[in-house]
Amino acid sequence: MSYAIIGFGNIGRALAQAFSRKGIEVSVATTRDPESFAADAAAIGPKVVAKTLAEAVKADLIFLAVRFEAHPDVAKALPTWQGKTIIDVTNAYGVPPEQLAKQPSSRAVAQVFSGTTLVKGFNHLGAAVLAQDPALQGGRRVVFLASDDDAAADKVGELAEHLGFAPIKLGGLSEGGLLVQARGKSWGHLIFKDLVKFDG
Ligand SMILES: NC(=O)c1ccc[n+]([C@@H]2O[C@H](COP(=O)([O-])OP(=O)(O)OC[C@H]3O[C@@H](n4cnc5c(N)ncnc54)[C@H](OP(=O)(O)O)[C@@H]3O)[C@@H](O)[C@H]2O)c1
Repeated sequence: MSYAIIGFGNIGRALAQAFSRKGIEVSVATTRDPESFAADAAAIGPKVVAKTLAEAVKADLIFLAVRFEAHPDVAKALPTWQGKTIIDVTNAYGVPPEQLAKQPSSRAVAQVFSGTTLVKGFNHLGAAVLAQDPALQGGRRVVFLASDDDAAADKVGELAEHLGFAPIKLGGLSEGGLLVQARGKSWGHLIFKDLVKFDG
């Protein structure tokens, strides 16, 4: 399984830190020449590798960590996203519901990335919190996952476990997934709730 993060801003870097902490290789890409941020990537860890967008999208699991408005540009990187799983970390706060045809923002994203399976996740925490070690107080920081494809949510859940988080599946994008969707001037009820799960 190979991994990439598209976007190397606040969230892209926070996710890259999570991969680096566990020694799991991940590609990072932006619109820029990878040489321009290779040193920043390497400063996070030796397994964080700056690539072109075209190279990065060869990965199996791809975190979409760009501003919501930029997702159609990223989608142009491949003619089809069949066989790829996208983890949608975008928050569509401020985007009018009419622009999303009144559907959850992640479903609008899934339609643009034709053929993909999409999991909404890792988006409910601020970047500074997401960047921290998820092992805390004897438990693990929770990340929420929502998808219309249960097998894809399981696959991303496995990765979340490897990264040290406690994944909680919320069901489909229009069901529990609405708890972690932002649109218009509203935030889903679970957004910004920094929760820790204690196993035992
Ligand atoms: N910040 C938070 O605390 C937070 C929390 C939860 C969720 N989110 C969501 O996460 C997403 C990213 O937020 P952020 O704060 O990390 O934004 P950011 O700091 O502005 O970073 C955005 C990144 O996307 C890259 N980018 C823009 N257009 C691109 C394209 N067409 N192809 C590839 N890369 C592109 C930018 O690089 P270049 O412009 O240099 O190419 C930049 O590295 C947003 O949707 C936001 O709503 C943010």
